[in-house]
Amino acid sequence: MTPLLIRHPRILLPDGEFLLGDILIEQGQIVQIAPEITVSSATNIIDATGLTLLPGVIDPQVHFREPGLEYKEDLFTASCACAKGGVTSFLEMPNTRPLTTTQAAIDQKLHLASQKCLVNYGFFIGATAENLPDLLTANPVCGIKIFMGSSHGALLVSQAAQIEPIFAQGDRLIAVHAEDQARILQRRQEFAGITDPAIHSQIQDEIVALNATKLAVKLSRKYQRRLHILHLSTGIEAQFLRENKPSWVTAEVTPQHLLLNTEAYEKIGTLAQMNPPLRSPDNNQILWQALLDGVIDFIATDHAPHTLEEKAKGYPNSPSGMPGVETSLPLMLTQAMAGKCSVSQVSHWMSTKPAEAYKIPNKGLIKPGYDADLVLVDLDNYCPVLREELQTKCAWTPFEGWNLTGWPVITIVGGNIVYERGKLNTEIRGKALRFVQ
Ligand code: DOR
Repeated sequence: MTPLLIRHPRILLPDGEFLLGDILIEQGQIVQIAPEITVSSATNIIDATGLTLLPGVIDPQVHFREPGLEYKEDLFTASCACAKGGVTSFLEMPNTRPLTTTQAAIDQKLHLASQKCLVNYGFFIGATAENLPDLLTANPVCGIKIFMGSSHGALLVSQAAQIEPIFAQGDRLIAVHAEDQARILQRRQEFAGITDPAIHSQIQDEIVALNATKLAVKLSRKYQRRLHILHLSTGIEAQFLRENKPSWVTAEVTPQHLLLNTEAYEKIGTLAQMNPPLRSPDNNQILWQALLDGVIDFIATDHAPHTLEEKAKGYPNSPSGMPGVETSLPLMLTQAMAGKCSVSQVSHWMSTKPAEAYKIPNKGLIKPGYDADLVLVDLDNYCPVLREELQTKCAWTPFEGWNLTGWPVITIVGGNIVYERGKLNTEIRGKALRFVQ
């Protein structure tokens, strides 16, 4: 593998400071960072003057649909979208077909990903009411996913009596989709017949989310069990966590819960429909503050593509979910450039913290000895989100037309350039992530 020298970017260092310098990559790892590096002629050189070098994004919650639902997305198209979006690693959810609830299903995904994925990959094992032995032994997995609500079939584990044994045995990370299924069912009946998609946020209301988050934290406390709360969506949950979050619990928020709210239904209808739903605008502000204060630890997209045909079925027949991996980094960097937070905070929430929380070694920082998973972004060039440029198979985004900066110019996975100025190198393959137990 030819060494790679990136010349003159602004390099984000682990202490949050920037160095205008050079960075040398050999055998897929960062070997040197210095104001000026001299190299032999047998080195590929990128002139990155004017660009900013960040650790590649680790997206810790995505739904990539393969195997079984490839008509929505597959591991190749999703990983192309990742490469374009500066996402160099992802953690993928178990609601594929077959469900990822056994070692065999994990093995199948790992095999498919090794054949098709341009970026690095890791997978959750899904909890059912019956697969406790698999949850204890499956390997490698980044954690156990429990759908406490908003699911159906075997992956829905909504009763406290089913959830508790999962917390009680084993010690690996449990990630929860925290919604109270009983309350959802009851409110679906109450609001039956309403087809305005805005009703979705009322049916699966803030209390639906709070009830489940409280139960998960209670069980985590009882068993001192490592817990991660996926896509926190409400101010009341953030407030609850501010007062009650044990040190071993983490929480994430999506860009859409920070930047979109119930007003989006008027503009984009069912494209704004997701679980947990978008909330009223005041929640955006409270979630932002919780993120800035460290009550929320990091960012995930919950990339959940559905076709436009499916979305056009109309509420309540339209499926919940929206894509996210190719817009998340520019969305957040645009916020940073607008003064809402700093660029180094964005990188902390999108790279460093996910690596730390899921114990992924050698990733999430720009540091000698770390893997060369990197993204060069242009913070000075605003471009709109264009549907025709999307790589996700579903070919739509709730952020179409948004004018963003911080778009990836070059994305590097394991020392290989996988995306450069609009072009993907589809020959590159990522690696299976490791999770230190
Ligand atoms: O809106 C959502 N859609 N939320 C989830 O957690 C699942 C996802 C999907 O898989 O479509």
